Amino acid sequence: MTSRVTPDASAAAAGSTPPTASTPVPPPTPQETASRRMLTGDRPTGKLHLGHYVGSIQNRVHLQHEFETFLIIADLHMLTTRNTRADIDQVSQNARDMVLDSLAAGIDPERATFYLQSAIPEVSELNTLFQNLVTVPRLERVPSLKEMARDAHKEEMPYGLLGYPVLQSADILCVKAHVVPVGKDNHAHIEVTREIARRFNHLYGEVFPVPELVVSEVPTLLGTDGQGKMSKSIGNAILLSDSEAEVQRKVRGMYTDPNRVRADIPGTVEGNPVFQYHDAFNDDKDEVAELKARYRAGTVGDVEVKARLVAALHVFLEPMRERRAKYEGQSGLLDELIVDGTDRTRREVRTVVGEVRSAMGLAGTWNQLRRKAEQARRRRDA
Ligand code: TRP
Repeated sequence: MTSRVTPDASAAAAGSTPPTASTPVPPPTPQETASRRMLTGDRPTGKLHLGHYVGSIQNRVHLQHEFETFLIIADLHMLTTRNTRADIDQVSQNARDMVLDSLAAGIDPERATFYLQSAIPEVSELNTLFQNLVTVPRLERVPSLKEMARDAHKEEMPYGLLGYPVLQSADILCVKAHVVPVGKDNHAHIEVTREIARRFNHLYGEVFPVPELVVSEVPTLLGTDGQGKMSKSIGNAILLSDSEAEVQRKVRGMYTDPNRVRADIPGTVEGNPVFQYHDAFNDDKDEVAELKARYRAGTVGDVEVKARLVAALHVFLEPMRERRAKYEGQSGLLDELIVDGTDRTRREVRTVVGEVRSAMGLAGTWNQLRRKAEQARRRRDA
């Protein structure tokens, strides 16, 4: 098991009755499957790496069979920290790369709907409406936003960045998603989303499901430098698209236990990224246990531990390379998936925004004004 769905969602995923040990759970009917949705995605800032995989993509690949899947290319979220013309000019290529990475990782293009956030203006409308359902102090307590501001070298918090979780709530609720698999740095955003959904339903009537967070079983992956989380901008990432030679070069250069100057000195496994990757990607658990024991005893060198990691990553990445090659050969496929997915999502979002406008009374206000104006015009013209 790689995902842990909060209790409500696993019951939801399995049908209406919660599973017990004695009653086998029937698989969801096609109708149930169709009506339950997953939404998640990434900002189009570059290629996906192993950290993305363990944080969220692995769960997406599993959940796509149980949930109707929407994958957002969150370019409006990118703008909260990167908004130069140069950044924006890279979005289309980054979007294609992200979609290709997802397909390589096992997302089925027949099941998943990819879409470009900025091409659906109704999402921004929902964002505007949701801004009144959360307070500034609440958003100021979201820890990831301060980190993002700091990483982007912003001295003061941009207004848009403070609203990042509100826009994310608009993404999730605009298709009424039930589950959201995301990495740890996004957990607090889903908490805000749940609050906004409840607040909306309380004020205007039941429109939104309160979505469930799906957390990863694997702790946040360290970078190859062992200094912090894996991040492409820091240059400590192994990409899903890296060649075998690149993977080998990066693993050979990985940070290990700095106190271990010779192979016969007992080493430390905890906090050692080489062993963290073995735990995450090496399916041969006996081999991992044996390597750890020998490392602690000072009877295996870093060179061997790394060579075995290269081999494990090969087993893990090779099927992705094969799928990548297959999809890469289909010219225009990625653009078509994004465009068709965006059109399809936009239709869904328009329906939901229509419901929102009715529930809030905005549609009624406008209809009333329009009726009166028409009546006045008819009277005058009569
Ligand atoms: N915040 C996500 C990230 O860290 C991207 C994102 C935007 C997202 N909207 C979303 C993820 C909705 C899940 C659901 O890149």
